[in-house]
Amino acid sequence: MSLVAWSEDLTIGVAAVDADHRKLFSLVNYLYDSMIAGKETPVIDEFIDSLIIYTKQHFEREESLFEETSYPDRLAHRQEHDALIAQITEAHKRYKSDASATQLLEMIGFLNKWMIEHIRKSDKKYAPHLKERGIS
Ligand SMILES: [Fe+2]
Ligand SMILES: [Fe+2]
Repeated sequence: MSLVAWSEDLTIGVAAVDADHRKLFSLVNYLYDSMIAGKETPVIDEFIDSLIIYTKQHFEREESLFEETSYPDRLAHRQEHDALIAQITEAHKRYKSDASATQLLEMIGFLNKWMIEHIRKSDKKYAPHLKERGIS
């Protein structure tokens, strides 16, 4: 069963970005499913590492689109990304020192919440700017 369901209102209309977002959702779902399936801590731990790497790559992709098109809000958006990476890294550290289901669920809950909030509030804001410049 999926923890986070993709919904159409999360589509921003820029194909490469939407594909990344869908992938992020499926990674978080996979993490949740792995926990339910009782996967061992090292397996979960390694998966969190790859999830963080993928998230960073996604953020870099957005940020280079901002640079290419001189998106006016790029600094604030980048700061939001940096803060999110710092929070995920912190949550991962907590999981490393206490590999409990509670800790993992807290992390999954955080990932779920920020993805939805950040896409709805911040990513949606830059979509018209990119589309006006022929990126869709
Ligand atoms: Fe995004
Ligand atoms: Fe973003």
